[in-house]
Amino acid sequence: MVIMTGPKDSGKTALLREYRRRQAHGEFLGVSSYIDMREKPNVDPAGFAASLRGSMVDSMELKVKLGIEVLGGNVEHCKGSASEDGLSMTMRWLESYCLERRHLVEPEQCSTTLVDAYKQGFPTIFIDEANALAAWHSLPDGEAQLETLFRFLVRISKQECGAHIVLASSESFFRRWLLSSAAFQGHGVSVFGVGHLAEEEAKAFMLERVPASSKKEAEAVWDDVFAHVGGAILNLHRIVRLAHRAVATGERLRDRWEREKKRLFMDAAYRVMEGFRPEGMRKVGVREPPKWKKDDWARLVKKMADSRDGVIAYDSLADVPGLDSMIEHDLLQLRAYSDTEREIIADEWPVVIPTSRMALHVMRIKG
Ligand SMILES: Nc1ncnc2c1ncn2[C@@H]1O[C@H](COP(=O)(O)OP(=O)(O)O)[C@@H](O)[C@H]1O
Ligand SMILES: [Mg+2]
Repeated sequence: MVIMTGPKDSGKTALLREYRRRQAHGEFLGVSSYIDMREKPNVDPAGFAASLRGSMVDSMELKVKLGIEVLGGNVEHCKGSASEDGLSMTMRWLESYCLERRHLVEPEQCSTTLVDAYKQGFPTIFIDEANALAAWHSLPDGEAQLETLFRFLVRISKQECGAHIVLASSESFFRRWLLSSAAFQGHGVSVFGVGHLAEEEAKAFMLERVPASSKKEAEAVWDDVFAHVGGAILNLHRIVRLAHRAVATGERLRDRWEREKKRLFMDAAYRVMEGFRPEGMRKVGVREPPKWKKDDWARLVKKMADSRDGVIAYDSLADVPGLDSMIEHDLLQLRAYSDTEREIIADEWPVVIPTSRMALHVMRIKG
């Protein structure tokens, strides 16, 4: 079981989709189920169950179409149970699929083709934006359903090694929330971090995509672009779009970028200013109301402004009241150490950083 974390728009979903695309083409072993918790029906346990099963069945059928044998993949049986909806039904089906198929490859009858078919059917369950499962807390019986789901996920993956589970989330406290569930007591979960791009990659990403005639202009604005957007892939996409539009309208890329920079600045300034009015913040989902005061945010902004590059060790901010609440409300990001981290350099982890490079610029002005 792996938790995939990283800031919003860093490419977690894109990575999962690309993995599944290649898996469907037979490039990777196994079958998988992908559940996007941003899709409303999935926030209901029955809807979640239908997606979990439907997606797994689709994946199995794709392999079968390619002529690949999926050992133990009883597609018809699963389809048959689709009408008797419900999470417990789906979990029962998946549990028998994940665990019983192991007995189909007893060591004494292990041929290469059998083992191959076993591997081809090895299931992975991807739950994207898995933090949204927290909404089950507010459903009647949701608490118990969530605990049952977690116990099931832990059993089939960590205890029985019958499946891989990948839970993706941008929420800073997702890991803490997940591990606070009784189902996880005594079980650790590894973290795979997807960060923004490092400078070299970010530059290459942009230069590869701008029109050939804008390459020189793009190189000329690059330092300013990176200083304000860093390696955030979605913003890099935007710059690429600006370059294409500039060519179409005969404008200079630099002029377009200057206008875009103002827009990004206004967005970031709005977010930073929101922190000074915690009582006026909109209620979002299951989040608790802000737990900081105006002066706490002012202190935090000053610390960020005085920091060398907007990276502060979480532990050294213990004296800022309501820090966790600021993070929960997306005014700051908490980033844990991951082997795959390429963007942040720090001696002590976890660290707290602004939500964007532009937000750091705003903080430097306000602090
Ligand atoms: N490696 C990549 N190459 C090109 N575009 C990417 C890549 N990774 C992400 N993107 C694009 O960046 C945007 C944000 O990615 P997404 O996967 O939705 O982020 P996340 O799930 O982390 O919030 C999407 O428009 C996606 O298509
Ligand atoms: Mg996503």
